[in-house]
Amino acid sequence: MRTILVLNSKGGSGKTTIATNIAGFFADRGQAVALADFDPQHSSLDWLAARESDRPEIKGIDAAGHGLRVPSGIDVVVIDAPAATHGEDLGSLVRRAQTIVIPVIPSPIDVRAAEHFLAELMAVRVIEKHEVKVATVANRAREGTQATVELDEYLEQIKLPNGRKLPFLANLRSSVNYLRAAERGLSIFEFAPMATMPDREYWAPVTKWLTSTRSLPE
Ligand SMILES: Nc1ncnc2c1ncn2[C@@H]1O[C@H](COP(=O)(O)OP(=O)(O)OP(=O)(O)O)[C@@H](O)[C@H]1O
Ligand SMILES: [Mg+2]
Repeated sequence: MRTILVLNSKGGSGKTTIATNIAGFFADRGQAVALADFDPQHSSLDWLAARESDRPEIKGIDAAGHGLRVPSGIDVVVIDAPAATHGEDLGSLVRRAQTIVIPVIPSPIDVRAAEHFLAELMAVRVIEKHEVKVATVANRAREGTQATVELDEYLEQIKLPNGRKLPFLANLRSSVNYLRAAERGLSIFEFAPMATMPDREYWAPVTKWLTSTRSLPE
């Protein structure tokens, strides 16, 4: 079993959107997937509640205040972290994961928040010891805008504690397809193949990383 954590202490950065789409991606590929919602808002569990019954099953875990109990037979656990995760809560979530995806929105406020958050994350012991693989994605990016260019430049130059580059995987675009798919508890990998083709292309470096050994600790 592997655990993928979607994390950023900044609210509204796209954690639930990315977590539910990663869960849908692996479920669509025939993996046994659990989606663990650590957010008392339960947005991931709400997404799951809307999921059509004829779709590949994703097991929901209400982990907010209850802890993470994974049913047997699960291949991939995707954790949707709540906003404002810091300190001991951050450490205990990070220690559960082999892989962490950090979405960041192109806006000066979000970039400044990401600077603080990434500094805190890099100081977590298992990250320092490189026992967890971490990557960033830009979310709700708009091609050619100054905010997206600045975010890309920022994400490109972040270093891991060992001095290596923190992988920056992709610019995921703002798209109504995420909202339309979410209405039915679906990911963009399971919804309107023609309409979502561009979105899946933007995701390609993310899914490639997630399905390669590069996203797993050595
Ligand atoms: N790429 C995208 N295209 C269009 N809408 C998006 C995209 N990413 C996120 N959104 C929308 O932005 C809002 C915030 O996204 P989301 O709920 O995924 O963020 P979050 O980090 O989980 O927020 P919170 O910190 O409150 O848990 C939602 O309304 C979501 O539908
Ligand atoms: Mg959320």
